[in-house]
Amino acid sequence: MQSTSEGISASSSRGQWGSKLGFILAAAGSAVGLGNIWRFPYMTGENGGAAFVVVYLLCVAFIGLPLMFNELALGRRSGKDVIGAFRVTKPGTPFIITGICCLACCFFVLSYYGVIAGWTVGYAIASLLHQKMVFEEFAARPEFVLPLFGLFILMTILIVQGGVEKGIERWAKILMPVLIVLCGVVIIRSVTLEGASAGIKYYLHPDFSKLNGDVVMKALGQAFFSLSVGWGLMITYGSYMSKRQDIVTGGIWVAGMDTFVALIGGFMVFPAVFAFGLAPDAGTALTFKTLPAVFDKMPAGQLVGCAFFLLLGIAALTSTISMLEVPVAWLVDEKKWTRKKSAWLVGGAAFVVGVPSALSVGGVEWLTKLHFAGKTGFLDIMDQIFGTAIILLICLLASVYVGWSWGPKHAVDEMSATNSWFARPLVGSISPATVWVLFIRFVCPIVVTVMLLNMFGVKFF
Ligand code: PHE
Repeated sequence: MQSTSEGISASSSRGQWGSKLGFILAAAGSAVGLGNIWRFPYMTGENGGAAFVVVYLLCVAFIGLPLMFNELALGRRSGKDVIGAFRVTKPGTPFIITGICCLACCFFVLSYYGVIAGWTVGYAIASLLHQKMVFEEFAARPEFVLPLFGLFILMTILIVQGGVEKGIERWAKILMPVLIVLCGVVIIRSVTLEGASAGIKYYLHPDFSKLNGDVVMKALGQAFFSLSVGWGLMITYGSYMSKRQDIVTGGIWVAGMDTFVALIGGFMVFPAVFAFGLAPDAGTALTFKTLPAVFDKMPAGQLVGCAFFLLLGIAALTSTISMLEVPVAWLVDEKKWTRKKSAWLVGGAAFVVGVPSALSVGGVEWLTKLHFAGKTGFLDIMDQIFGTAIILLICLLASVYVGWSWGPKHAVDEMSATNSWFARPLVGSISPATVWVLFIRFVCPIVVTVMLLNMFGVKFF
């Protein structure tokens, strides 16, 4: 047990959430991001409306949530960063590679996610100034895109350097309520437009004929991206949880809030898009091309547009904070760097590495036309490698590690220590914990392997 006590004693000096709500808001802040408001509606639009939503909900409940518990339990039990969590729970384990992948994913995704986040700030300012935005022209101008990206990374660094409780938690408590209020404003405007009901019908009417294996894979991938599962993020945020907080209900709250915001993202977008007769399946362009056209035509559109892009920016900020925190926690824990130095160095490096992404949407021709792994453009290639493929690998390794190497009993102990019903038999001798173990050992690894093979062209259906 010496390894565990190392983890516990380390946790007091490295920072902790000040309250249960603080953890929930910070972790939900990480989960709620561009994935919910930008990615989820366009994926729904492209893949069959409500039928996709149903599949997505099943993916969150049956695969995403068990994997989230897995990461939180590993983090809280070890009280460590993504590398330390493996080293402390099983010294010498080769699964430490999982932690290395987590560091790489968070760092590289931060580098391009910050670029998109910068666009949202540009759009919010433009809406306020009543400037018409043509996406291709805006995204191709480095003199706009780079400073906005830099500004975003700077805000992220300043919050992370403040610490777990005084930086991340404090800002999550301010930003998340503002986000919800802004969502409310945009939804009320959107659903009260004349002709909005066609959008609601489209969003809520399931077309199951569009469902196929590919759509299910997309829904699963979206669930991992949106829940921030498979990045070591929940390991890191779990390591700051107090030994008294319930991991299981905490995880359910986080997944619930994330799903709720994704669902209301659809209510913001589709009614307005239909009210003005625009196409709901414009893909990635839905947010940055279709919606500005909608705001342009709508009464009080300038303010609604500003509110929408501001909320998108806030959602992105609480996510970039968490992406930066994963490598920072590692440097603070393992390399004994100060938090300030770690935040500035990692954040600065992410900015430098993000420059080619920022220039790859029209700014520099060869970066825009670069083709690799079936994707075109440096930013999309980064998203495919780090935002999609490696995350799956991490989910696979993390579930195999806990399920087969470290042993699920440790994780169940960690979860049931603060929860009264998780390990209690419900039917015969079967408890939620038994079902969770079954998922973490068999269902999750099999499903994720199928997804990985599917990505490499081995299709099962
Ligand atoms: N979950 C975030 C989103 O939906 C993305 C994210 C992933 C954020 C991993 C932090 C870490 O946009």
